[in-house]
Amino acid sequence: MTDASSLDTAVSILKKGGLVAFPTETVYGLGADAENPAAVKAIFRVKGRPERHPLIVHLGDPGDLASWSSSVPESAELLARTFWPGPLTLILRRSRRVLDEVTGGQETVGLRVPDHDLALKLLRAFGGGVAAPSANRFGRVSPTSADHVRQDLGKDVDYILDGGNCGVGVESTIVDVTSGDPVILRPGGLPRERLEEVLRRKLEVRGSGPVRVSGQLDSHYAPRAAVLLVPPPEAEGRAKELRAQGKRVALLSVGDVTAPNLYASLRRADESGAEWIVVPLPEEVGLGLAVADRLRKAAAPRS
Ligand code: TXA
Ligand code: MG
Repeated sequence: MTDASSLDTAVSILKKGGLVAFPTETVYGLGADAENPAAVKAIFRVKGRPERHPLIVHLGDPGDLASWSSSVPESAELLARTFWPGPLTLILRRSRRVLDEVTGGQETVGLRVPDHDLALKLLRAFGGGVAAPSANRFGRVSPTSADHVRQDLGKDVDYILDGGNCGVGVESTIVDVTSGDPVILRPGGLPRERLEEVLRRKLEVRGSGPVRVSGQLDSHYAPRAAVLLVPPPEAEGRAKELRAQGKRVALLSVGDVTAPNLYASLRRADESGAEWIVVPLPEEVGLGLAVADRLRKAAAPRS
């Protein structure tokens, strides 16, 4: 349960430069005051994340956009107006308010207003921007419950605001609006089709470009077990084959590979002691695009 006093506690910890994990509609974030360089550095330390991977700044109000970005193109205004609060991160030119520690030295910043009551209360009571990556160790599966955060980060986080399970379940869609042509850098909780409707054009999903997106590393969002992606009709057969070879296998269902269930299902499979997770690959439409993207990264070769 989260009451007014836990919100007060979370705000005062942020103000003192501490780390607060908080729920959003996508996944839990590991938050720090975006204008406190030492607090931002602590995020990288706790996550084990390379320092040049930029963080998203979370805002309590779409109107805050102007003070965190030095130029807001029309497409950005339209998207913010239509989809914020919501599972959309906009990459914009940064304003002077944005620290190098947050952007990894890049001239752009990722901004988003999450669509979650508790997150919005926290952000509004805090009053500033909260830099937050997903609240998991670098490269692992993102947390969609407060328990996941506790399991991953334990005492390394000063406070966890418990908002139950995340409704969307995959990270925000990231759209780079710094050039005239908006481009999707990471498919996510806002379907590509909805962006295309509003922008009235097709959007490209760019795998890699001049900006660094940590989710684009080959292996990412990965459970401990090896992941085998297969067309749905083959899933049972492949699981049987592996079992016949003496392997411990977890077989996910079509329902397990929907956005709200994906990460919890991968975690459960790990907890069952599986060496292999056999996964029916969903169709890449709507939220299936983000789910398939995460599954490909979970299945990618590990270094
Ligand atoms: O749904 C979400 O986006 C969650 C919740 C907590 O808001 N956050 C999240 O953060 O997924 P993280 O750090 O795990 O992923 C953010 C992605 C990273 O891949 C990062 O590289 C990219 O956003 N990013 C941030 N700022 C960027 C920038 N200026 N240019 C390009 N990519 C950027
Ligand atoms: Mg992440």
